[in-house]
Amino acid sequence: MSTPPLEVIILAAGKGTRMRSALPKVLHELAGKPLLQHVLDTSRQLGAERLHVVYGFGGDQLRNAITGDDLNWILQAEQKGTGHAVQLALECVDEASTAMVLYGDVPLVSPHSLQAMLDAAGHDAVGLMTAMLDDPAAYGRIIRDENNRFKEIVEFSDATDVQRAVQEINTGFLAAPAKRLKKWLSGINSDNAQGEFYLTDIFALAVADGVGVETCQPVTSDETLGVNNRLDLSVLERIYQQQSADRLMMQGLTLRDPSRFDLRGDLVHGQDCSIDINTVISGEVVLGDRVSIGPNCILNNVKVGNDVEIKANCVFENATIGVGAIIGPYARLRPAADIGPAAHIGNFVEVKKSTVGEGSKVNHLSYVGDTEIGSGVNVGAGVITCNYDGANKHRTVIGDDAFIGSDTQLVAPVSVGKGATIGAGSTITSDAPDNTLTLSRATQVSIEGWQRPEKTEK
Ligand code: UD1
Ligand code: MG
Repeated sequence: MSTPPLEVIILAAGKGTRMRSALPKVLHELAGKPLLQHVLDTSRQLGAERLHVVYGFGGDQLRNAITGDDLNWILQAEQKGTGHAVQLALECVDEASTAMVLYGDVPLVSPHSLQAMLDAAGHDAVGLMTAMLDDPAAYGRIIRDENNRFKEIVEFSDATDVQRAVQEINTGFLAAPAKRLKKWLSGINSDNAQGEFYLTDIFALAVADGVGVETCQPVTSDETLGVNNRLDLSVLERIYQQQSADRLMMQGLTLRDPSRFDLRGDLVHGQDCSIDINTVISGEVVLGDRVSIGPNCILNNVKVGNDVEIKANCVFENATIGVGAIIGPYARLRPAADIGPAAHIGNFVEVKKSTVGEGSKVNHLSYVGDTEIGSGVNVGAGVITCNYDGANKHRTVIGDDAFIGSDTQLVAPVSVGKGATIGAGSTITSDAPDNTLTLSRATQVSIEGWQRPEKTEK
């Protein structure tokens, strides 16, 4: 018998009042990604065919922030309980599938633990994730019979003192044949302490039908932590960051201090790379071998070649850095900055939509925008490409081995020839020829006998 298709139902209709936010709770970010997105990504890793999200508020905000052809948004206008929410979703679920219930505000659950739950459910049983907690708080309690077989879930508000003493709790995650789940949900009512349709009531019905309820536990209890307020969010963020740091270090990355490293995307690295404190990695960052990153750097979608040294306090976005380049401290690489092999970009240098050729140096206080710099070029301190005329952007081209004197303005569109030298302090408005000194500078004068003004008495 082939495995039935998997459809995931994600409950996210809660208002999230305790976030005190205009943003729906599940759009708050963990590691730079909305909580709900974490749950969707995990579901996709399990091969889910369709993802049904039950929401109650902020539909437009949700649909704008989160997209996917496999997504189905279901409005639960009135929150009548988890059972009601799942019932609504099941109207859109193929009866032949396995339905798995997840939560938009419980983002750390791992594909591994969920796969174990799906395996426990098999083709026709119910899989339920439970956890043993020292403080079971107000979670639903797992009630077992004298033979320790699963019997039912009793919600905290409906539980007796004896039941409340049970430390095994319902995490809320379950997997069951969609057809059976549908049937059981049609048999529940809201006759309980909270006046809600409890999803948890299906378990006693399953047992009554002679269908096995197979429990399993997550690898770590962190996986079942939910977010109710911003304090919870910060706790989960730290757990996520520590896990990422641990994984990267085990893969051979040196982190000077894993508690001061933030990953908000994906990092791929070669051998013997090291990252100093307070670095934030976002988007997709790829490091070659032996890359070192100094303290306080921000890298967003950056590709870095082997043996690159990035010194302290650099900010890079959508940039590429060639083998053996040295960047920083205090360098800013903006989108489409392409720094060639062995090039140097120094302090207070901003590079945007420009290529810097092999071995070229822009070491101090410069702006390089919409520019093509050849190889072996030396750009002096304070050089500015004037790429914007107030309406349009224009290109600057600098040939191989050119030397641009300090404090030069290159007014684009303009080109500097190969081997050309530009005298310091020039404003270059027309093309400068190859292998020639070009400069624009008022002739220096010294005035003999000039007197400094003196203060006049009042
Ligand atoms: C639920 C479980 C409880 C379990 C706990 C784990 C039920 C009846 N109880 O309790 O056994 O220990 O989760 O955290 O299921 N939601 C909707 N629509 C609704 C109601 C809830 O989408 O009508 C969503 C909420 O947004 C939330 C999730 O379902 O993400 C859980 O709802 P919540 O009311 O927090 O459940 P608990 O009372 O904590
Ligand atoms: Mg509740």
